[in-house]
Amino acid sequence: MKTVRTIAELREALAELRGTRAPGDARVGFVPTMGALHDGHLSLVRAARRDAEIVVLSIFVNPTQFTEASDLDAYPRQEAADAALAAGAGVDLIFAPAAAELYPQGYATTVSVAGPLTATLEGAGRGSAHFDGMATVVTKLLLAVQPHTAYFGQKDAQQLLVVQRMVADLGIPTRIVACPTARDADGLALSSRNVRLSAAERERALAIPRALAEVTARLAAGERSVAALRSAAEEILAPAQIDPEYLAFVTPHALTPVDTVDEEVLCAIAARVGAVRLIDNAVLAPA
Ligand code: PAJ
Repeated sequence: MKTVRTIAELREALAELRGTRAPGDARVGFVPTMGALHDGHLSLVRAARRDAEIVVLSIFVNPTQFTEASDLDAYPRQEAADAALAAGAGVDLIFAPAAAELYPQGYATTVSVAGPLTATLEGAGRGSAHFDGMATVVTKLLLAVQPHTAYFGQKDAQQLLVVQRMVADLGIPTRIVACPTARDADGLALSSRNVRLSAAERERALAIPRALAEVTARLAAGERSVAALRSAAEEILAPAQIDPEYLAFVTPHALTPVDTVDEEVLCAIAARVGAVRLIDNAVLAPA
């Protein structure tokens, strides 16, 4: 496994790999990340490994998608450990550019997905710059790697929708593959930010997956009213002193709020636990 820092080196390394594996038609699978790799990221790598002869993983803490300087500063960075984890999971090539490689002097272009997909939920909570920064860097990464397939986690359900919209709108010839949320044994969705939780905060954070599980169980028991499902979730969140930034019940593709669960509904939560902002979601399907 090799780590490259520039787009020119990336192209060269990919050409070399293509030459050694199924010359001509070697498929490239791509996993974009911000590093501090955990098993959620590695589950994406494993999915890529199943589909593609060549697996590329990028590590880039993208400054333009952070709307809080403190979050960017506190974001964990551990490139040596990441390289070992990536190699163990079967990554062929790591692309870890410096900010100046992706945003050189005079950089002036933004990819912006308009409408409710970016204005609601995370877009409302973190500001529109978040998805603009994300869409811009993902476009740049897809152009640099030119993969056949790229892997995104359902944990960031709205991000996945924005990426799918953008790839369709711009005609980017990459198939976007959605991967299920990987969780710790206690149910907490894996996240690079979890390392910043104290033991007590982590215990409180468990109310988030518990609330989602409770909503899923109530629905299975026949409760379809969003008001009732919302109260059930709040009853679990409140004792853990979790006051969600949003607790949304929306259609899974357009993110339109619903009052009853008659078809598939995305239940999405964002909440701060201490200084750490966590998100999680469940797709609810009526029986
Ligand atoms: P990052 O948070 O590092 O996540 C990289 C990818 O891993 C995303 O597709 C995310 O949804 C997925 N992921 C994170 N936690 C997961 C979990 N518990 N289970 C399954 N997948 C999980 O998302 C980003 O980086 C950035 O916005 C990026 C797309 C790299 C653009 O900068």
